[in-house]
Amino acid sequence: MKLNITILPGDGIGPEVTREAVRVLRAVGERFGHDFTFDSQDIGAAAYRKHGYALPNETIESCLASDAVLLGAVGSPDLPGLPEAALLELRKTLGGFANLRPAYCHDALLDASPLRAEIVRGADVLFVRELLGGLYFGEPRGREDDFAFNTMRYSIEEIDRVARVAFALARLRRGKVTSVDKANVLETSRLWREVVTRVAKDYPDVALEHLYVDACAMHLVTDPRRFDVVVTENLFGDILSDEAAAITGSLGMLPSATIGGRVDLYEPVHGSAPDLAGRDVANPIGAIASAAMLLRYSASLEEEAIAIESAIAGVLAAGQRTRDLGGDASTSEIGTLIVEELAVGVVQ
Ligand code: NAD
Ligand code: IPM
Ligand code: MN
Repeated sequence: MKLNITILPGDGIGPEVTREAVRVLRAVGERFGHDFTFDSQDIGAAAYRKHGYALPNETIESCLASDAVLLGAVGSPDLPGLPEAALLELRKTLGGFANLRPAYCHDALLDASPLRAEIVRGADVLFVRELLGGLYFGEPRGREDDFAFNTMRYSIEEIDRVARVAFALARLRRGKVTSVDKANVLETSRLWREVVTRVAKDYPDVALEHLYVDACAMHLVTDPRRFDVVVTENLFGDILSDEAAAITGSLGMLPSATIGGRVDLYEPVHGSAPDLAGRDVANPIGAIASAAMLLRYSASLEEEAIAIESAIAGVLAAGQRTRDLGGDASTSEIGTLIVEELAVGVVQ
């Protein structure tokens, strides 16, 4: 299979983690006989410094011409908000509205979670975060002298389409959807609950529960195994998915896939981690697992995606970890070990 992938390394640890993800993709290409080509483009603060724009036209064109986009992270303390605005613009342009964020507890990392092993063992949650609506894009928004305002806005259509993604994915998993809102306070949430309840009628084999976001935040760390698929609006999904890092042991573990638009976008959940940048210490597994999701959702290469995920599990089972997980392996060492683990599959 031929696959053209645009790589957007971005800022901070972005270039370090995407480098390892690309190495892993190259190794998969070799092992399974695929022709993956990579076009690296600038985004974020790095792009702004080079071109004067945080989202250059060339970057957009490359993304739109590709089969999938893999992004590292954006964000720089000296340009607050600018790289982030570029990422939101990119998301809007690519059009993916369903952001899948799986949080899975590897047995090998039970001791890395701040939560007790008996609470997180076997936890496996898939967040479906609505990515193109809510407070992130609602108009009007603005700042006056002594006040500022944002608009939380959702249409029936925006809720309906993301709910359908969640129910379809739940069918392939354990058949349960938890819809998270704040319907006791917000009109947008009341509409959210109404539409999700209606969509559920088309999926009678999937169980639906509703939770308020505050209660959900509590259940996530006290009983994460009660969750299968969690569907929620943009900002709630942003916050809850970072919280879910506690299940996995580190924010550096979490991958994501954004589907449903013109071109799908893959990015780890974490940010540019300026505190770690340039030191070869960041955990690249979120980025590498995002590459696995890319093969699964943009190319239907399920076997290849599983090969990457198994290689990640194998390296963790062998006790190899970056510092965030309590180990001392570097970013590039973890990448190398995962590439080697993939090659072992060829010999067997
Ligand atoms: P962050 O995710 O960058 O870091 C939060 C904490 O997690 C830090 O302690 C960091 O060291 C740690 N961490 C993050 N990724 C890690 C990894 N791969 N390995 C080990 N440890 C890791 O969030 P922040 O500090 O709140 O934000 C920093 C910048 O990143 C901001 O500019 C923010 O807007 C941006 N950001 C970008 C994205 C994105 O590009 N998708 C996502 C989140 C935040
Ligand atoms: C994420 C990030 C982004 C978001 C920021 C950087 C715009 O936190 O992908 O989770 O809030 O969506
Ligand atoms: Mn976030």
